[in-house]
Amino acid sequence: MTFPEHGQPADRIAALMDQMKAGDADWRGGRVPLYVFGATPGVAEVGRDAFNAFFSENALGAKRAFSSLKRMEEEVIAMALDLFHGPEGSTGNMTSGGTESIVMAIKACRDFNRAARGDARHRGNLVLPVTAHPAFEKGASLMDLEVRRTPVGADLRADPAAMEAAMDADTIMIVGSTPCFPYGVVDPIPALSELALRRGVWLHVDACVGGYFAPFARALGRPIPAFDFANPGVMSLSADLHKFGFCPKPASTVFYRDAARHAAQTLDLDVWPNGRFATNTLVGTRPGGGVAAAWAVLNFLGRDGYMQIAERLLAMRDAYVAGIEAIPGMRVFGKPDLSILAFGHPGRDADSIAAGMSARGWIPGMVRTPPGLHLMMSLLHEPARPAFLADLAGAVAEAKPATGKQASAVY
Ligand SMILES: Cc1ncc(COP(=O)(O)O)c(C=O)c1O
Repeated sequence: MTFPEHGQPADRIAALMDQMKAGDADWRGGRVPLYVFGATPGVAEVGRDAFNAFFSENALGAKRAFSSLKRMEEEVIAMALDLFHGPEGSTGNMTSGGTESIVMAIKACRDFNRAARGDARHRGNLVLPVTAHPAFEKGASLMDLEVRRTPVGADLRADPAAMEAAMDADTIMIVGSTPCFPYGVVDPIPALSELALRRGVWLHVDACVGGYFAPFARALGRPIPAFDFANPGVMSLSADLHKFGFCPKPASTVFYRDAARHAAQTLDLDVWPNGRFATNTLVGTRPGGGVAAAWAVLNFLGRDGYMQIAERLLAMRDAYVAGIEAIPGMRVFGKPDLSILAFGHPGRDADSIAAGMSARGWIPGMVRTPPGLHLMMSLLHEPARPAFLADLAGAVAEAKPATGKQASAVY
């Protein structure tokens, strides 16, 4: 392929893209197990319209040129801190996604710690349950920190005793997820908070998946522990707007218990001919659309809109669990708290079940141990349930016997 010599008409470009899209998986029909999140009618349109209304604006210039974006980002952060029981003085900012939020929290923790120790080269370690997202390794490898992963308990949740055993004098951060991606279970954040306070380390809560879902599930009486700043040991929290906040990508949020910790995140550079360059994000240019769309969707849905979605998602989750466990031998792993499920069959090969689902037009999500399948479900998966369960029963019935090996999950 060479660089196009001449431009082409817009309608031809659009037609070419439509053609390419025709080969994509049917995410609208709930056949993709992650990546895309559907909410109630109108939400996607409100987000898209707001995104387009601020299509050209750049949130890098929010302070100097786009007071609209500055105000919207501040309001998104304030609304979310209300949801997450942010104490007086707590603060935060938007980022491009869960990974950036986590990387920034690690950076803040490292620098806050180095300053407190008076050791600008201290090489700390992070202690996380094996179920935490690989974004922590991304951050740690960028900053030359060590990561120690610890086994989870029989309930697949973080085991505070195992984490404590892995800690030493160089541990700067411990992590709990709300929920973890592999099994969809929320870690025991109150116990991790107690551990963090007792050992004087920073607890980060990765609520990238559940930040904008768990508060409503709790309000509906689901048994999810306090997972946010209500726990005094929580020093930072990441929560993705572009997952169960149902906002357009790219949009996440990261929060700190106090301004001093947030300040440790800021990269305040005065090194080039243009003078001072101070940003709270890893990226420079940021789409104004992402900020505007998040503000618009939070205000469009409000607490009652998110409650309605949470109620439907949890009823849907319960129906999927019942349907999966009605297939002889199939088991859901652990007790999923939100709408992520992992499930398998002790006597059937998970790769073979996945191949059967693939042959029936589903993109199978996978988990390696225990070998099984994986789903992160939004309302897109609600109408797909009967077809999914019928095809799963078919795929399980014709699957090869289990091999005892891990499933060959790939992301
Ligand atoms: C628990 C958890 N944390 C962090 C992330 C990273 O988020 P992103 O893909 O937006 O960078 C994910 C992504 O699925 C996740 O499940």
